[in-house]
Amino acid sequence: MNLKDEFIKYFVEHGHVEIPSAPLIPENDPTVLFNTAGMQPLIPYLLGEPHPKGKRLCDAQKCVRLTDLDEIGDKTHHTFFEMLGNWSLGDYFKKESIHYSFEFLTKILNIPIERLAVTVFEGNNDIPRDDTSAEIWKSLGIPEERIAYLGVEDNFWIAGDSGPCGGDTEIFYFRSKDEIPAKFDPEDDRWVEIWNNVFMEFHKDESGKITELSQKNVDTGMGLERVVAVLEGVTDNYQTSIWKEMIEAIEKVSKKTYEGNEISMRIIADHIRTSVFISADPAGIKPSNTDQGYILRRLIRRAIRHAKKLGIDMTANWMEPIALEVIKKYENYYKEIKDNKEVVLEVLKNESVKFNRTLEKGLKEFDKMLNHLNGNIIDKDNAFKLYDTYGFPIELTEEMAKEHNLKVDMEGFKEKFQAHQELSRTASKGKFKGGLMGHSEIETKYHTATHLLNAALKIVVGKDVHQKGSNINEERMRFDFSCDHKLSDEEKQKVEDLVNTWIKEDLPVTMTTMSKEEAIQSGAEAMFIEKYADIVNVYKIGEVSLEICGGPHVEHTNLLGHFKITKEEASSAGVRRIKAILE
Ligand code: ALA
Repeated sequence: MNLKDEFIKYFVEHGHVEIPSAPLIPENDPTVLFNTAGMQPLIPYLLGEPHPKGKRLCDAQKCVRLTDLDEIGDKTHHTFFEMLGNWSLGDYFKKESIHYSFEFLTKILNIPIERLAVTVFEGNNDIPRDDTSAEIWKSLGIPEERIAYLGVEDNFWIAGDSGPCGGDTEIFYFRSKDEIPAKFDPEDDRWVEIWNNVFMEFHKDESGKITELSQKNVDTGMGLERVVAVLEGVTDNYQTSIWKEMIEAIEKVSKKTYEGNEISMRIIADHIRTSVFISADPAGIKPSNTDQGYILRRLIRRAIRHAKKLGIDMTANWMEPIALEVIKKYENYYKEIKDNKEVVLEVLKNESVKFNRTLEKGLKEFDKMLNHLNGNIIDKDNAFKLYDTYGFPIELTEEMAKEHNLKVDMEGFKEKFQAHQELSRTASKGKFKGGLMGHSEIETKYHTATHLLNAALKIVVGKDVHQKGSNINEERMRFDFSCDHKLSDEEKQKVEDLVNTWIKEDLPVTMTTMSKEEAIQSGAEAMFIEKYADIVNVYKIGEVSLEICGGPHVEHTNLLGHFKITKEEASSAGVRRIKAILE
């Protein structure tokens, strides 16, 4: 039985339309690095915009969650996973949603009802207890003692701090061979959560105020790898059919068995799978020192270090057979995996060749550091040396230090790093934690060019042009904007000329910090106003552009070189996309 196929089939038979997974890298939201839940690409539709495919949808959505990166190596965590979900966009609500889940679990997956238990929202000052859901569960035969009422922490769901949200009911499965206790205790970890049904009927704004949405929605999420483990009766997710071929490929290249080498093998399997998905995504991410590119680099380099620990021959192209298993497993579901196979293999190979040049020496250097320690800390100079000279992502150094019961002077490292990059004013702490390690010179230039392009479009195409998204890597900039027509050659030429004129005029770029209100009043452009902090940075370029932005930017425009549009195309309805380069 294939869970993914069965899930989609069941919901399609019940009036849902299957939609393709959205890209892993959100197209129009630079504030998050990856999609972390099935509902994320559907936010506009949960808020009321009609979805072109109707009111009942289902899919398997590609997700990456980085919060658990350090946990990878245990039995249950993954950086990449697929979330199965079904949605009602202002159509059915609690009754049908619970009925569907119950029927799918007990009739299609044949899970005995005795192994199921549920939690429902106990309510708070704003929202009453969800007795409706509890009654529905009871009508289906779930006894009262298998229903737990929990608070906001457990049974109220929202992505981040604001947006569509609501109480939820979570379904648990008893996975131990022990006798099943009559009373359900959600703290007892023999019960594992397998499915979450969120009743999204509210909207929470930035100030925390909750209002009712114009429509009542259902948003559900079922973690594929966890449920497959349940169905296959194993407690180690990596021993399910999902991972079988990947683990076997690792056993083969390392000439070692999974047993006894679980941690390194899980890390290698997980990180290679995630790297395949990131580098196959349409955003064209390559390993780098910023944003998603930095995460990709970290994953590949960490996998390489664990491969070395297993004694894998570093001179062989050892990642390829493992990556090929990932590709084989997923290419029929995700077209981009098939289409970008060569690109993916190239990315993995190039990054490993690059890291191999310094890995050996870096590890020797690390051992040397262990012999000259001052206390139990790797000091900032050594940590920086490993990063800068040997290409060790700081998190890798931290992991190696931990294996020797040591710590890294992270604060000191950050200071040194920022001083080195001259980025102290832009690399905020929060971003640093998310893995944003600062920007290369060319990316900094692209940031500034993006503001100029935005301003030029407003003049050439019209004041109604608004930024809808932007993405920068070392090779190009990409800019999405609202516009109802394809740009003519003449319009494109005018935009290019205007940007190049401003570059030649060598306009100064200045930054001022002010409150969000002041920034809006001063007329600054802002793309995701509700997502900014109260204090924002406003960048001004001569008299042509004023935008709220985290930066970084160049100090004056003639550093940018020559601006050239390489492509203009549709991005989605009413949104055009420009790709451009600086040469
Ligand atoms: N959005 C809900 C979750 O991710 C279903 O758990």
